[in-house]
Amino acid sequence: MTLAGKKVVVIGGSSGIGLATAELAKKEGADVIIASRSAAKLDPVAERLKVTAIPTDVTSDQSVADLFRRTGPVDHVVLTAAQLRTGPFKTVAMDDVRATMEGKFWGAWRVAREAEIRPGGSLTLVTGFLSVRPRPNSAIISAANGALESLARALALELAPVRVNAVSPGVIDTPIRAAMPEAARKEMLAKTAAALPVGRVGMAEDIARQIGSFMSNGFATGSIVYVDGGALVN
Ligand SMILES: NC(=O)c1ccc[n+]([C@@H]2O[C@H](COP(=O)([O-])OP(=O)(O)OC[C@H]3O[C@@H](n4cnc5c(N)ncnc54)[C@H](OP(=O)(O)O)[C@@H]3O)[C@@H](O)[C@H]2O)c1
Repeated sequence: MTLAGKKVVVIGGSSGIGLATAELAKKEGADVIIASRSAAKLDPVAERLKVTAIPTDVTSDQSVADLFRRTGPVDHVVLTAAQLRTGPFKTVAMDDVRATMEGKFWGAWRVAREAEIRPGGSLTLVTGFLSVRPRPNSAIISAANGALESLARALALELAPVRVNAVSPGVIDTPIRAAMPEAARKEMLAKTAAALPVGRVGMAEDIARQIGSFMSNGFATGSIVYVDGGALVN
């Protein structure tokens, strides 16, 4: 199955994994719509890729409803949007952990409810390997990712014949760590790369390729695929 002529919505499409997915889908001939909160981030990408941009905030019921009212029926929806706030379990602010769930988990819930996906089309969620390989100070991210994986499996049944899958990335070098001091970010990425069987961290394109496969493989549903450079066997 090809993406040529398919309508593909990438929420989180202005950056990182979402941007790489939008690029891949566009290259395959899809009619691509990218969505995220900031028009200032969306517009230059939309202009460069020659795709449509629709400002959207997945933490808002109304904003997600408006997005899919504007798109009408679509073939594939990819959700990479997330803004994660975490910290030590005993002291992290409840507002921060609630905000993490609001975007990453309830955002996916809203999108799955509002999107009108044509039969045989797909919804792809992006989780993260902390669901199965937890680290200190990130319990809320582990929990959100685990919940999303369960949601993907449940929706594969309930939304059929729409297909629902999730990709779980390992450490991917994207703007998600833009707030980290550059030296610390580089050191963390280098250490991670050295410890992985593949000897490098992931690129956004590595995950986009898996998302592309979920969209085009009509037999894939209810699948959770870990693309992590071998982190889980390390
Ligand atoms: N990078 C990694 O190492 C890694 C590892 C495991 C899992 N993941 C997961 O992969 C996904 C994509 O991450 P990434 O690395 O591509 O991050 P990224 O480069 O920071 O991109 C995040 C995108 O989401 C959008 N976004 C954030 N909050 C939003 C909201 N409330 N509503 C709509 N759009 C929103 C951002 O645009 P605006 O700011 O304009 O809204 C941006 O387009 C996330 O779910 C992340 O948890 C990433």
